[in-house]
Amino acid sequence: MQKNSIEFELSLKKREIDKNLKTLLSSKDRFAKPLYEAMNYSVSAGGKRIRPAIMLLVGEDLFSAKRHRGLIQAACAVEMIHTYSLIHDDLPAMDNDDFRRGIPTLHKRYDEAVAILAGDALFSYALEIFLKAEGFKDKDKINGLSLLLQSVGTRGMVAGQFVDTKIEMYDRSKKTLSYIHLKKTAALISASFSVTGALFGAKQKTIEGLSALGESAGLLFQIVDDIIDVTQTSKTLGKTAGKDVEQNKLTYVSLYGIDRAQKMASKEAAKAYACADKLNFKTNFVKELLAYFHRRIK
Ligand code: IPE
Ligand code: IPE
Ligand code: MG
Ligand code: MG
Ligand code: MG
Repeated sequence: MQKNSIEFELSLKKREIDKNLKTLLSSKDRFAKPLYEAMNYSVSAGGKRIRPAIMLLVGEDLFSAKRHRGLIQAACAVEMIHTYSLIHDDLPAMDNDDFRRGIPTLHKRYDEAVAILAGDALFSYALEIFLKAEGFKDKDKINGLSLLLQSVGTRGMVAGQFVDTKIEMYDRSKKTLSYIHLKKTAALISASFSVTGALFGAKQKTIEGLSALGESAGLLFQIVDDIIDVTQTSKTLGKTAGKDVEQNKLTYVSLYGIDRAQKMASKEAAKAYACADKLNFKTNFVKELLAYFHRRIK
């Protein structure tokens, strides 16, 4: 891996996040210990740590905040929320997946009750960690938390997951697909950009610019996820390949076919680059991150 490449940068960020997640997720409480073990099982299994990496990159590149303790804590909170969404996404009532981040899913390793509760606990713990993040003004944290929660609940991930689970089987329109992808995935990725701006007290215009950049980045990410579900192996993905076809899911591939889905990914990437150009990033890392999202197709 080349020094200064985005892959190298991501590996540094991942190491920092993993170390902090481990500390945050340790408990001495005798009764809560197995619950923490379950939370740790899914969190420590790995994952690319894209969302926290975005936060650290934006913090460094736009707000000159290198190794900012509070930002690392907020970024860990976002990764916990993302992991909770994956644990619930894999449940039998949802995608019914046996394999995640290269190991059996949490409900397979333990049981469904443990998976539901570990997800719930990760979400509430994340909010506590976010609110306690050091070095930010309270008003900026409230603004950040409000953006974060919008991206998770009825206007974000949960709404997208609802339509993905309960509506897509009878309404297979382009509008439904856009809604699902915007909400279930792009919302939290977009929040990773905009929440960082809010934490550092950025102007509304900058926050909106970050949010728009994140939305295109998030759509790109989910279109690519749909494509590689078909083109890559379970081993490479660390999750069950071919799951979308097996479950007749409404995806960019099922609605448009691979070629058009690839073109649409390129279009979203171009939109995201244009948004990035409007912001004053000090380095090229954010654009390289977008290129990395896009490269995953290959
Ligand atoms: C998987 O997200 C779910 C989607 C939103 C596509 P990631 O691809 O970021 O999963 P991890 O965190 O690396 O496991
Ligand atoms: C993203 O959708 C799910 C979440 C918001 C957690 P998918 O169902 O496509 O994610 P994978 O492919 O299982 O990771
Ligand atoms: Mg799903
Ligand atoms: Mg799934
Ligand atoms: Mg998928």
